[in-house]
Amino acid sequence: MSTYAKGLEGIIAAETNMSWIDGTKGILEYVGINIDELAQKSTFEETVYLLWNGKLPKINELDEFTRELRSHYRIPDVMKERIARIPKEVEPMHMLRTLISELSFYDPNPNDNDVASARQKAIRVLGQAPTLVAAFDRSRKGLELVEPDTELGFSQNFLYMLNGKKPTDTMAKAFDICMITHADHGLNNSTFAARVVISTLSDVYSALTAAVGSLRGPLHGGANEGVMKMLNEIPTIEDVEPYIMNKLKNKERIMGFGHRVYKAKDPRAKELQKLAKQLAEDTGNSDLFLKSKKIEEIMEREVASKGIYPNVDFYSATTYHCIGLQLDLFTPMFAMSRLGGWSGHIIEQLSDNRLFRPKAQFVGEHNVPYIPIQER
Ligand code: CMC
Repeated sequence: MSTYAKGLEGIIAAETNMSWIDGTKGILEYVGINIDELAQKSTFEETVYLLWNGKLPKINELDEFTRELRSHYRIPDVMKERIARIPKEVEPMHMLRTLISELSFYDPNPNDNDVASARQKAIRVLGQAPTLVAAFDRSRKGLELVEPDTELGFSQNFLYMLNGKKPTDTMAKAFDICMITHADHGLNNSTFAARVVISTLSDVYSALTAAVGSLRGPLHGGANEGVMKMLNEIPTIEDVEPYIMNKLKNKERIMGFGHRVYKAKDPRAKELQKLAKQLAEDTGNSDLFLKSKKIEEIMEREVASKGIYPNVDFYSATTYHCIGLQLDLFTPMFAMSRLGGWSGHIIEQLSDNRLFRPKAQFVGEHNVPYIPIQER
C-alpha cells in the first residue's frame, strides 16, 4: 500500500548515523553528542570529522584532517579570473551554486563515485567554498583578493580572507559556533536533494550544486536573510508589536519561526540566542537583539500553541550581522557549514545506495480524446 504525505511529512526516506532530532523536546545530537556540548567544546573541523567518521578524532587524526582541509583552501587561478568577471550584482548564493558546479572542471576525475574519491572531493569543496565566497565578496567591492592562510583554522581563515585582517578570538569562536550548529540536520530539504542526485550515481559536484540551489529558498536557508530584512524594516522596539500582528493578521509567515520537525524551540536557536545577545552588546547592536526578543515574546503568545517557535535562522541573523557580515552573505554561511552535512550524507548514500524513485499520485483524467489543433 502506498501512502501519500504532502511534502513527505513524517516519511522516513533514508538511514543516517549523523544527526538525531527530538522535535518535541527540542534536542539535536550529532553522532549522539548534544549540539550544545559540541558548540561549546568542539571546532567546526572536529565536528565535520565526527560527522564523516562517526567518532571524535584522536589528536593525530584531527591534525591530519585539518592539514588536508587546509591544503585545499586555495582555488585555481582560473577560478580567480572567473570570479573577477562575475557581475557584481549577482547574489552570492547564485555565484556559489555555479562555482561549486564549476569546481568539477578542475578535477581530472569528476565522476569517480567510490567512497574514498567522494570523500576527497568533499574535503576539497569544503576547503575551497569559503575562498570562493570571500574572493567574490572582495571582487564585487573592488578590493584585492586575500590569499588563504593555511596556518589558520576554517573560521579564522574565512574571516581573514573576507576582511583582510585576522578576526579576534571572540569573533572567530562565534563564527565557528555558527558553523558547528548549521553543519547537519537530518533529512532537511537540501540534504535530501543531495542524496536524491547522488543516488543516480551522478557525481559529488552535481549533488552539492543541487543542495546549494535548494538551500537558498526562503523556506529553508534563505530565511536568515529574511529575518534580517524584517529586523531592518522595524524601526524601533515599539514598532515590533504592530508589525508582527499585522503580518499574522494577513497570514504572512514570520521568517525564522516554525519548523517541519521541531514543535519546540530549536536547540540551535537557543545556542545562537546566547551568542547573539553577547555579540549585540559587544558591538553596539543591542537594539537588534531586543527587537528579536520582542518578536519571540509576541510569537510565543500568538502561535506557540501551533508549535511555532524560533528556528536556527532567527538568532543567526543578529549573530552574522554582529560578526560584520553583509546580509546577502548569511545564506552562503549556512551553505559553507552545511557542505559538511551534505557531503557526509552523500558518502552515506554511496555506501549503501538505492536509487530514489518515489511515485506520484495521478489526479488527472483518463481517456481524454486527442483534438486536432484546428478544432481546439
Ligand atoms: N509564521 C507564521 N505562521 C507559520 C509559520 C511562520 N513562520 N510557519 C508555519 N506557520 C503556520 C502556517 O501558516 C500554518 O498555519 P495554519 O495551519 O493555520 O494554516 C501552520 O503553521 C503549519 O504550517 P506549514 O506550512 O504546514 O508547516 P511546514 O511544516 O510545511 O513549514 C516551514 C515549515 C519552515 C516551511 C514554515 O514554518 C515556514 O515557512 N517558516 C518560515 C521560514 C523559515 O523560517 N524557514 C527556516 C526553517 S529552519 C532552517 C532551515 O530548514 O533552513
